[in-house]
Amino acid sequence: MISSTVLFYGNYMLCLCLGLLCVVFVSYWNAEWRGGFAWDASFLQFNWHPVLMVTGLVVLYGNAAILYRVPFTWGQRKQRWKLVHAALLLSSLFLSILGLCAVFDFHTGYHIPNLYSLHSWVGICTIVLFTAQWVLGLVGFLSTCSPLGFRELLKPVHAWMGVAIFILSLASCLSGINEKLLLTLNGNSNSTAAYSSHPAEALFANFLGVLIVAFGLVVLGILSNQRWKRPEPGQESSREEQSAARDTRPGRV
Ligand code: HEM
Repeated sequence: MISSTVLFYGNYMLCLCLGLLCVVFVSYWNAEWRGGFAWDASFLQFNWHPVLMVTGLVVLYGNAAILYRVPFTWGQRKQRWKLVHAALLLSSLFLSILGLCAVFDFHTGYHIPNLYSLHSWVGICTIVLFTAQWVLGLVGFLSTCSPLGFRELLKPVHAWMGVAIFILSLASCLSGINEKLLLTLNGNSNSTAAYSSHPAEALFANFLGVLIVAFGLVVLGILSNQRWKRPEPGQESSREEQSAARDTRPGRV
């Protein structure tokens, strides 16, 4: 039987590879078909938006969410990994806010109204919830004066909210990719074919969406597996006993 740990690391590797592919694909899409990057309130500044959002709110966020599941971290002090978790999420928040600045600046430069689309509504709610979650996490779990009762109350809410924000990030990215393709591949200009005529850019960006979904499913799969949860203090030995008993049951190969 493949041990639970080997299975975990298989999934973890898949998660790392898919995350890397998401970043490569979103960067290549904007470099190859959208003209590249600049920070001058032009279309080229907009191109930072998808790159920073996918990298920050999907790939970094997803990796921060599964950090406590990595068995390697279980033998070490949780406080250290709490700091790594918080630092990864702070970088994710920073990249997402930079990604928002890119699109707000671009809208202001071209006199495009702000927050008119469903994508922008879902997106802004995601960032607001994420900011609130990060601040509450800091106060509840990292500050020394937070009472134990408050931590215990906060823990399940924090875990549920963490998953909800991740799902909202996935939804924001998928709706953003779709909106961008519908807005730009309209077939009205000579330089762009219609979305419906299957141009290479559309196939590539659709594939990016599929990669984001695959990454999201692997992260959610890891989070939903109870056997990959970091054991609470004192639980470790009983879990090892259970697992040994399972492996020595008659008929087990
Ligand atoms: C978690 C990820 C994302 C979040 C939170 C997010 C959030 C937002 C927000 C709040 C706006 C409105 C800005 C304004 O009104 O000035 C916006 C605009 C936009 N975003 Fe995203 N976005 C995300 C990912 C993406 C991705 C991956 C794309 C793909 C290209 C994208 C494409 C767009 C487009 C085309 C606009 C301009 C039109 C509009 O306002 O809806 N977004 N985004």
